[in-house]
Amino acid sequence: SAQNYTERYRPQFHWTPAKNWMNDPNGLIYHNGQYHMYYQYNPTGDVWGNMSWGHAVSQDMIYWEEQPLALSAFNTPAGVLGEFFFSGSAVYDEFHSSHLGDSPPLVAAYTSYYPNNVTLPNNQTIRGGTQCQSIAYSNDDGLSWIEYEGNPVLALPPSPYEDQWKDFRDPYLFWYGKGAYWVMVVSLPQLHKILIYHSTDLKQWEHVSEFGPSNAVGGVWECPNLFPLPLKGNIHDIKWVLMAGINPGGPAFSGASGTQYIVGNFDGTFFKADPDSDYDPGSGNANWVDYGPDYYASLTYNGLANYERVAITWMSDWAYGATIPTSPWRSAMTVPRELTLEKIEGQTRLISIPHSNLQKLKNGPLLYANHWDSATGNISLPVSGKQLEVSISFRAGKNAKRFSLGVRTGGKTSGTLIGYDFTTQRMFVDRSSTTDDSSFSDDYKGIYYGPLQTQDGVVKLRVFLDWSSVELFGGRGESTITAQIFPSGSDTGLSLFANGEVIDINLKVEALASIWTR
Ligand code: FRU
Repeated sequence: SAQNYTERYRPQFHWTPAKNWMNDPNGLIYHNGQYHMYYQYNPTGDVWGNMSWGHAVSQDMIYWEEQPLALSAFNTPAGVLGEFFFSGSAVYDEFHSSHLGDSPPLVAAYTSYYPNNVTLPNNQTIRGGTQCQSIAYSNDDGLSWIEYEGNPVLALPPSPYEDQWKDFRDPYLFWYGKGAYWVMVVSLPQLHKILIYHSTDLKQWEHVSEFGPSNAVGGVWECPNLFPLPLKGNIHDIKWVLMAGINPGGPAFSGASGTQYIVGNFDGTFFKADPDSDYDPGSGNANWVDYGPDYYASLTYNGLANYERVAITWMSDWAYGATIPTSPWRSAMTVPRELTLEKIEGQTRLISIPHSNLQKLKNGPLLYANHWDSATGNISLPVSGKQLEVSISFRAGKNAKRFSLGVRTGGKTSGTLIGYDFTTQRMFVDRSSTTDDSSFSDDYKGIYYGPLQTQDGVVKLRVFLDWSSVELFGGRGESTITAQIFPSGSDTGLSLFANGEVIDINLKVEALASIWTR
């Protein structure tokens, strides 16, 4: 299709489908030299509905090519619109444990949502509104998928949770090498529980344990991930991270979606949280992966090297996702982020940094770099742009209160502000700009804070600016803020604003190429 990807607000280096609605990333897997990204997709509309799995492939998670639908709600064993394909994950069944297909297949697990009463081809009858876990396999490297005839593989939640049949979803699969079995992690969203299952063939599953509630419980728990990571500095100190979406109950505003994580141990059967990561449910404390409004349903790749973890996340919020002012597509994914674990101030923290492959997008000369010994007030910069990486570091001088970088600005009163508040030791993104198109939702305008300690007095911020988003990485990546922005005007200016004195400022602005014009 003739698609130039230059519509107003079209992200230039974030994945978007050419048209229509998208939400969660699904089935992220690296296989045979290709990164697959499937995603919740409505093939016929720009709001949620007809949930199918869209598909894109990439050699590097930066440049993507859209593929035919992988799983379509218009073509299901249960009949047209008898089944929606909700979120899930994928693995490579290297030893052919499933005996599905003629050769070792890719196997996806997903939630089958049946809107109406149906009788499946295997004569099982299902009540309308049920969520079950199902599998499908691919023998052509992830291009086309065949649903297993014995689906669903989990028709109901286990006893005593059978009454949760309407809320039982988002299976996350991985191979547990030590035990030589598959693990599936599924959410009971309303109960804030994660169920853990075992299988040796991906078809028969045994419920072995559960975890939760813990940490934030102000909304449903969805899209769980469970993965191992070594603690930085000691490759033998392996921790396990449970990461899940919560909606609402996220940190950005009342009613926001969010993503939290809990660090602990997993012995193949039980996940047990570490005391420093295990806040009382509802206590108001939680570990947030990202503090912004637009970071939800995060999913990590299967099939990467040992302990390599890369996440891609839906860059929107259920509070307003259906009304954001973009057309003919709706929603984007974040850049891929590398995840690691590090002890900071005595606490084990999940660290997110932009994937190093993003370096590929810096194909031109450096736009601008400067150093200031001291600054107060307003400095407008002789550089502009709307798809940029900006790195900035600085320290507090006399009476330092706040320091910010304005982007998409024509002056001090417009544009998005990205900066640091010395008085509360928090970084922030402020998108309450009067020049933004915010009419689509009362929840859009706001300022979002993420805690950030200085490192030897230095504040380090890294910003990825695209045509309709800002991703802010603070310090080592222990705090991030992701926010969509919708600047209505054509201003592309950059400025610095120092409230009090800020010293030792280093600034670097680099242009990023568009992924649509390779
Ligand atoms: C999360 C979610 C999942 C579900 C999917 C449906 O955003 O609600 O729990 O599987 O979206 O599209």
